Amino acid sequence: MNDERTEQTPAEQLHHISQTVRRELKARFDNVEAQGRATLSPSEAERQLQELKDLLIKSLGKKSEFANLKKSIGRLPAEERGPFGQRIQQTEDELVQGFDDKEAYRERLIEAARIERESIDVTLPGRRPRPGHLHPITLMRQRIEDIFVSLGYAVEDDREIETDFYNFDALNIPEGHPARDPQDTFYTTDGFALRSQTSTVQIHAMQRRGAPVRMIAPGRVFRRDTPDPTHNPMFFQVEGLCVDRGISMAHLKGTLAEFVHRLLGPETKTRFRPSYFPFTEPSAEVDYSCFSCVGKGCRICKWSGWIELGGSGMVHPNVLRTAGVDPEEFTGFAFGLGIDRTCARIYQLDDIRLLFENDVRFLEQFR
Ligand code: FA5
Repeated sequence: MNDERTEQTPAEQLHHISQTVRRELKARFDNVEAQGRATLSPSEAERQLQELKDLLIKSLGKKSEFANLKKSIGRLPAEERGPFGQRIQQTEDELVQGFDDKEAYRERLIEAARIERESIDVTLPGRRPRPGHLHPITLMRQRIEDIFVSLGYAVEDDREIETDFYNFDALNIPEGHPARDPQDTFYTTDGFALRSQTSTVQIHAMQRRGAPVRMIAPGRVFRRDTPDPTHNPMFFQVEGLCVDRGISMAHLKGTLAEFVHRLLGPETKTRFRPSYFPFTEPSAEVDYSCFSCVGKGCRICKWSGWIELGGSGMVHPNVLRTAGVDPEEFTGFAFGLGIDRTCARIYQLDDIRLLFENDVRFLEQFR
């Protein structure tokens, strides 16, 4: 309190304080209400609300000049205390009311902004959910599975990381065979092989189920092939195995012929070309007649009239024996088809790498 004011009477002091508070309130907070519309942004309203609360504490709080004045009532002559006490109370009520009005206005603005933010315009068009769909490889795999299940085959699933025993030895692939070369097969640092063909499942299935057995095993395989339009280092095969008494090459040919009829239509022909696989004897590559030109030759079949389906043959007696099946009692056939290349041919894709680029514009066409 300055000297000039200490000489003022309590009534003068009260007048002075109340004028000062009113002036400050008016100068800092009176600008918007007068215009009669919400010209304060919600964030500015919040800031001013806090500022108002601070000013109220500074003006009328415990450490204010106003509080000191209230305390001085006790020092007044007895007859003045009552009337002065009433005036102080009345002034305080008026000032607090002034603050309350301004706070209420700002709180209304903040509340209105909150309601607007949280309200939903039910007339706006909704956001359409984008449901996912199956990958073309999965669609192809399911078509293949459906056909073989209807022919009485079980669907097997098995591991993608193998020991040399399952990847090579049990499949009659001798030490020193080029397929064992690390240039062809991926190995883990612990010396396990990423399976390079689904034929590994033949062994697991016979060990698990014994004979007779009829199963297919779709799955991922890995080879150190350089990517190009018909090669990927990771691709899908489906293995087939049928072991029973009296199974012959005729059963193999009949089964694959039935398969392509169901997959591509009854006019589709099959062709078996002699081949070599260590785990089958005899072995054959299987082709089917082009579904587009029906064998005449076109762009899809590269003008040959035929499309490669995969490898096949009669299960080698060594493989049966290693898997615990007596080759004197049982014989069987096996085949391994490439899902990616078959998928690419059927959907007329020029490049199987498209299947793994994760380009939504491409994948959406298979919805
Ligand atoms: C095999 O993998 C044998 N396991 C098939 C088999 C099974 C023979 C049972 C006898 C008995 P092959 O290496 O030819 O065979 O591969 C079979 C199919 O896999 C091919 O016809 C082709 O469609 C597909 N394929 C091979 N390499 C790739 C690759 N890098 N990218 C995409 N597909 C491939």
